[in-house]
Amino acid sequence: MKNTMSEIKEHNTTTVKITRSARLRGDFQIPGDKSISHRSAMFAAIGNGESRLRNYSSARDCQSTLDCLEALGVKIQRENDQILIEGVGLDGLREAARVLDVGNSGSTIRMLSGILAGQNFTTEITGDASIQRRPMKRVIDPLTLMGARIEARENNFAPLKITGGNLKAIEYTPPMASAQVKSCTLLAGLFAEGKTTVIEKTPTRNHTEVMMQETGAAIEIEALDGGERISVTGGQSLRALGEYTVAGDLSSAAFFIVAALISPDAEIRLRHIGINPSRTGLIDVLKQMGGQIEIENPRLAHGEPVADLLARSSELRGNLELSGAVVANLIDEVPILAIAATQLDGSLTIRDARELRVKESDRIRAIVDNLRQMGIEVEEFEDGFRLTGKQQLRGARVESCDDHRIAMAFTVAGLIAEGETEVGGADAASVSLPEFYQLLARSGGSIH
Ligand code: S3P
Repeated sequence: MKNTMSEIKEHNTTTVKITRSARLRGDFQIPGDKSISHRSAMFAAIGNGESRLRNYSSARDCQSTLDCLEALGVKIQRENDQILIEGVGLDGLREAARVLDVGNSGSTIRMLSGILAGQNFTTEITGDASIQRRPMKRVIDPLTLMGARIEARENNFAPLKITGGNLKAIEYTPPMASAQVKSCTLLAGLFAEGKTTVIEKTPTRNHTEVMMQETGAAIEIEALDGGERISVTGGQSLRALGEYTVAGDLSSAAFFIVAALISPDAEIRLRHIGINPSRTGLIDVLKQMGGQIEIENPRLAHGEPVADLLARSSELRGNLELSGAVVANLIDEVPILAIAATQLDGSLTIRDARELRVKESDRIRAIVDNLRQMGIEVEEFEDGFRLTGKQQLRGARVESCDDHRIAMAFTVAGLIAEGETEVGGADAASVSLPEFYQLLARSGGSIH
């Protein structure tokens, strides 16, 4: 298939310099969760009626989702963090006049593919250089089994050309723990004839299931020997989300939580953060290490658990070996967990994290290379790494590898490093949290 879009060279070029910082103080709200924001926009679009999404993520990725939905004929008004979406129902999307561009967003391309597979028209969808290197066979496989026709470079890479319609339900067990694959299949299931079932051997974040329930879709969830069996019947019409406030992003909060734990005399309170148990593995692990994190005012908002989180300077200790389900639960937090582990009186071993090699960058490589640049001894495995603390971080030039979570994790490392740290390609942070440097500087982080 011809690449109809010239490869987007979206390299991040800003360098940020960080020096040692003490007495971090903060009390603020983090913008809406990226995973929930993507889903809220997609469900609002295929629901019936109007939805007003508040605290919608400012992440570049979530703006890409809105752009793609607009290109498919959905009317969207953006008023800062409030997004007004006129739902078109399951049959209301229109063929796009252009190639859809998801930018850096794996969630957009993989989940939207599920919706596109349900349409009686053809859509071409692609993204930046990183997206064009990330595996898509994982969504092509279930969607093809359901009857969609998908062309892809080497049957695995974007651009994807998706011709949908007339889907039939399947029962599918994804070969890897992936909420994106589960969500893609369940979203396609909404358009299929019959009952689509996804069997997860290792449970992943369940925001899609929660939101299906919020929009009135009948969905069945059954516990299964450590995993789960989730089924949805096609053809049901969905309610709009209506007035919906997105919970704050725990994966973004994680950088501030770890910054507070490892810096001297620090205290940071983060308000209205999503604490869905399918996402809180990092909090559990940090607490096991002796991290002082308090969960205040736990409550439920639109089916999603939320709370205020208070993190304080802590002495971290313990010998932890993480693998299996807990790694799937905290997969996005591994970069910042590695930074916390440098300050651990003990050791941290991460295994079963092979998926990190196919994220926005090869995150195992990026973590190991950058830690070594900063003078840290770390052993690399194909599916993880081992690190023994407590080690002194030394200021150095590190690279974001055009990966938002690497940029933010190593900025936090710079807060406790001896000397000056330079993070190259630091603007990658805006893929999930454009406000990151501003919020950290406002909390006392020494950043220029
Ligand atoms: C996401 C799922 C995870 C995660 C990504 C967001 C989601 O990816 O890494 O940042 O919103 O469903 P996989 O499902 O591919 O593991």
